[in-house]
Amino acid sequence: MLVDKRILLIIGGGIAAYKALELIRRLRERGAHVRAVMTRAAQEFITPLSVGALTADHVFTDLFDRQAEQDVGHIRLAREADLIVVAPATADLMAKAAQGLAGDLATAVLLATKRPVLMAPAMNPAMWAHPATRRNQAQLQADGVRFVGPNRGEMAESGEAGEGRMAEPLEIVAAVESALSEGPLAGKHVLVTSGPTHEPIDPVRYIANRSSGAQGTALAAALRDLGARVTFVTGPAVVAPPSGVDVVRVETAREMAAAVEAALPADAAVMAAAVADWRVANAAGQKLKKDGTGKLPVLEFAENPDILATVSKGPKRPRLVVGFAAETTDVTAHAMAKLTRKGCDWIVANDVTPATGIMGGAENAVALITVAGAETWPRMSKTDVAQRLAARIAEALR
Ligand code: C5P
Repeated sequence: MLVDKRILLIIGGGIAAYKALELIRRLRERGAHVRAVMTRAAQEFITPLSVGALTADHVFTDLFDRQAEQDVGHIRLAREADLIVVAPATADLMAKAAQGLAGDLATAVLLATKRPVLMAPAMNPAMWAHPATRRNQAQLQADGVRFVGPNRGEMAESGEAGEGRMAEPLEIVAAVESALSEGPLAGKHVLVTSGPTHEPIDPVRYIANRSSGAQGTALAAALRDLGARVTFVTGPAVVAPPSGVDVVRVETAREMAAAVEAALPADAAVMAAAVADWRVANAAGQKLKKDGTGKLPVLEFAENPDILATVSKGPKRPRLVVGFAAETTDVTAHAMAKLTRKGCDWIVANDVTPATGIMGGAENAVALITVAGAETWPRMSKTDVAQRLAARIAEALR
């Protein structure tokens, strides 16, 4: 899949830079040509000599290197690649790219390119969580940049645990393959919501549901495999998100609504999340305590925004909007009604009566409801449902 693909690898200055060396080997053993640009900070961690030995090419480090500019030039570097990969993408590189700064070779290439860009962020968890980095990532995503990782795990420098560890080289390779894929959804952006939401009662308690996120995760992977750029907005699911998609983690329905809004425009939206219909209106700022009198807390509820209906009826409506319906009675009839009420194009309806074992299980039995009518699919694995649905989505978007 990567044979003769030209990858321009921009190496940022972080401790994860050493993993860029393995990434080069993995890409080259799959037949890709890799050319590297290193920032000045990257050269504090690994040397151009070792990078050049692995790419078997000149390593570009300086915007004002007269020889290199004459031979290749930053504009040509930016144009001649099939894909630009930034690994590690530091907080600093992300901030500069989000702002369109172009003060060094790496950022000048990112500003000059019209080719797809994939970033593999790596930074301290506090830097990753900082509102400034959140804003920069959202901006870059809106500009069409894809992301892989970061993962949760221990940080090399501090032993601190949290989100910020660079994706592993093979995960980055998978994301590169998907970014370069020429599947039927290549060039299409698909938004997928998945998992349950958590609605806080107080700082330590919440209301949730039994959604595992399995069906949404399988769908995101299937859409990615067909070449789509996938934004995967997920509540706290049991199943880990797939690699090679842009993951946005949220907890509450309102956070999910905001993340979905931020991810638009998209060619299609598939709302597989089990969003809580209600949130606790009187959620406590402090942990609720028994006061010894036997008095019970009383929870009041407020209705959550209906994300599916909002997207279906909103100004940035994707061409295809697909909702899910988890029902326990009259599945098809309820799903038909939901299609009209929510204004979506399709509803994937399933029977989640506990006896079916579907919620949290590996299989699903669904009916695909469109204006044309209901189509009942045989019981199959959630992966098969995902692949079948992804193929239908590709057909609809063609
Ligand atoms: O109305 P109901 O919850 O059964 O509708 C399910 C569909 O609507 C799913 O696609 C789900 O993701 C979506 N939904 C939503 N926002 C809500 C409730 C449901 O997007 N607040």
